[in-house]
Amino acid sequence: MSAADPRTFRDAIGRFPTGVCVVTTFGPDGPAGLTTNAVSSLSLDPLLLLVCFDNGSRTLPAVRSSGRFGVNVLAAGQEELARVFASKAMAAEKFAAVTHVEEHGVPVLDGAAAWIACSLTELVAGGDHTIGIGAVLGTHSAPEREPLVFESGRYRVLAP
Ligand SMILES: Cc1cc2nc3c(=O)[nH]c(=O)nc-3n(C[C@H](O)[C@H](O)[C@H](O)COP(=O)(O)O)c2cc1C
Repeated sequence: MSAADPRTFRDAIGRFPTGVCVVTTFGPDGPAGLTTNAVSSLSLDPLLLLVCFDNGSRTLPAVRSSGRFGVNVLAAGQEELARVFASKAMAAEKFAAVTHVEEHGVPVLDGAAAWIACSLTELVAGGDHTIGIGAVLGTHSAPEREPLVFESGRYRVLAP
């Protein structure tokens, strides 16, 4: 047993395997986005999901101003894209790494395993993060593409 501190907390919660998403929006300066894994389904009636944004993220103010965001579920093979969107490169540089189209007013990335477009309904404070709650406007899933997985700080793919 270890005392709770940020490192042991990350080690423990890191054992919970997640998908990897790029959350996108059209901000005042054009498309913006970041890599996330703190994403969850929230409600079926109405359809809601949540994303936890680091308060230091540059995408958070862009989401606040646009009132919309897209959750792009990355596919196996899009690991490099996860790295690019996790960086502090300029948003234009991030979007040079992948083509996108607009769906329901949000940028949707080519080659993703699925996307969910949302209208921002609420921002809730949560420590050094802000929980963004979105009402689902539209979705698309590409069942032929396997998802990218993240566990213990490593990108993984599902065993065949
Ligand atoms: C696998 C992975 C998961 C991440 N999950 C989140 C997350 O859920 N929320 C968040 O705010 N940042 C998350 N990050 C960190 C952001 O991607 C990173 O801070 C990024 O530089 C923010 O970009 P921005 O400042 O352009 O918005 C994650 C990074 C990685 C590599």
